[in-house]
Amino acid sequence: MWSKTVGRSLFDSKFVLSLNMEILQNDLLLRAARGEQVERVPVWMMRQAGRILPEYRAVREQAGSFIQLATNPELAAEVTIQPVDILGVDAAIIFSDILVVPEAMGLPYIMEERVGPIFPEVIKSMADVDKLEVANPHEKLAYVLDAIKIVKAELNGRVPLIGFAGAPFTLLCYMLEGRGSKTFSKAKKYLYSDAALSHALLQKITDTTIAYLKAQIAAGANLVQIFDSWAGILSPAQYKEYSLPYIAQICDAITEVPVTVFAKGAFFAREDMAKLNCETIGLDWNMDIAESRRLIGANKTLQGNLDPCVLYASFDEIKKQTRSMLDQFGGQRHIANLGHGVYPDTDPEKVKCFIETVKEYSI
Ligand code: CP3
Repeated sequence: MWSKTVGRSLFDSKFVLSLNMEILQNDLLLRAARGEQVERVPVWMMRQAGRILPEYRAVREQAGSFIQLATNPELAAEVTIQPVDILGVDAAIIFSDILVVPEAMGLPYIMEERVGPIFPEVIKSMADVDKLEVANPHEKLAYVLDAIKIVKAELNGRVPLIGFAGAPFTLLCYMLEGRGSKTFSKAKKYLYSDAALSHALLQKITDTTIAYLKAQIAAGANLVQIFDSWAGILSPAQYKEYSLPYIAQICDAITEVPVTVFAKGAFFAREDMAKLNCETIGLDWNMDIAESRRLIGANKTLQGNLDPCVLYASFDEIKKQTRSMLDQFGGQRHIANLGHGVYPDTDPEKVKCFIETVKEYSI
């Protein structure tokens, strides 16, 4: 195993840096992402750092608001590590939000209780796009980078740390629409009526995101995930024009660590996603596992994809559904996860049951 890892590091330019990297006590996630043999399937959960844990809610209360928590590096680090200690997951994900990028570019958001994020100002014209800046993450997002450094010191090599960013298209949705929406029809209107504005905005977000992810990696992130949460509202042709080329730019630019692309609802793009310069593709629960493997091929790791609603079922049913998912993925080149973020009203004991079931499964 050691010689295989080092061999890869020496000959595969993408991982040359891994020779200089810290020794991790648990590197299952990174080995699975790189397609190396694992003795068991690694597991973590999207939105694991959040409201499912009473310990999170206590720290959030102490901070005052979501944004005060996210911009306080010590407290953000504390809630990042909670799921590692309490749930036993195989990776931490830095506590932040995808919307810090628009804010760094000059478009601030507020987080309204029970509503979600709102942008008081939205992008309406090319002049508005021109006013946005390609943000320097060391100036505008230093609080995230500081939180990463604290997490790394406190984890002390126990598990890898995942960094992340929103996909340019998903961020465009919020920047044009101003808030969450089922259809994002105000945002989509621009794709059909002002392609030039849409592409100019996507490129500025992409440039900021590349600099931001590289800064997260320099601060200590061991793997980065791109969340394209609203991919599923686009037609296949629009996805090819407005999302994939920008994700491809990011994947091509990130040569330091493995990259995961999670495009919720983009079942129609799986063959194209297989061509991305990334190691892992995230699946949601609508995507059939065997069909996804066939469309994506053998050279990518797959992540997912249990329906988060399974965690409302009995302990026995959770074990059954989790094992069935693991059987279908086949043990190797798989990172166990839910098919989207865990719902906030999920019982932490049910979450632990899911995680334990993955850890006890023999491959
Ligand atoms: O544990 C983790 O996954 C890390 C933390 C994380 C948050 N947001 C914290 C958060 C991550 C990775 C995100 C990503 C994110 N944020 C996405 C992409 C992933 C996805 O779910 O599709 C999106 C679309 C957002 C935007 C966003 N942030 C929305 C729509 C909301 C409101 C809905 C909700 O879940 O409350 C948020 C708020 C948010 N981001 C919370 C947390 C813990 C809840 C706010 C709170 O604690 O008060």
